[in-house]
Amino acid sequence: ASSTEIDISAIKPGQAIKAEFRKQPVFVRNLTPKEIEEANAVDVSSLRDPQTLEERTKEGKTNWLITMGVCTHLGCVPLGAGEGEAKGEFGGYFCPCHGSAYDTAARIRKGPAPKNLEVPEYEFASDTVVKIG
Ligand code: FES
Repeated sequence: ASSTEIDISAIKPGQAIKAEFRKQPVFVRNLTPKEIEEANAVDVSSLRDPQTLEERTKEGKTNWLITMGVCTHLGCVPLGAGEGEAKGEFGGYFCPCHGSAYDTAARIRKGPAPKNLEVPEYEFASDTVVKIG
């Protein structure tokens, strides 16, 4: 199994990029303080797939949200990483195939998808490079 290194130095707060990991899209997002606040304000027990933002990110780097860009419904690529405002009503990602909306922690909030966007195995190789896989 191969890993992928991604340079995150140019991703500003509020931006997300789409990269590739094992031939699948992966999203790397630099959350703004407001987006972090929104994610933390959610009552986790009300979620379909209950997880905190903290559980989905690395300690001390809660602003870096790294997930697969694969909708957990039927595998379309959600919008919101590099498509400007196409983030859907919960501010994270939106899958146009059947209308699944993910929040700023990429947790499923509305629509048919059963699970949050998957967080792959990864580590910070440095402050500006993420190694996925
Ligand atoms: Fe995303 Fe169906 S594949 S909502």
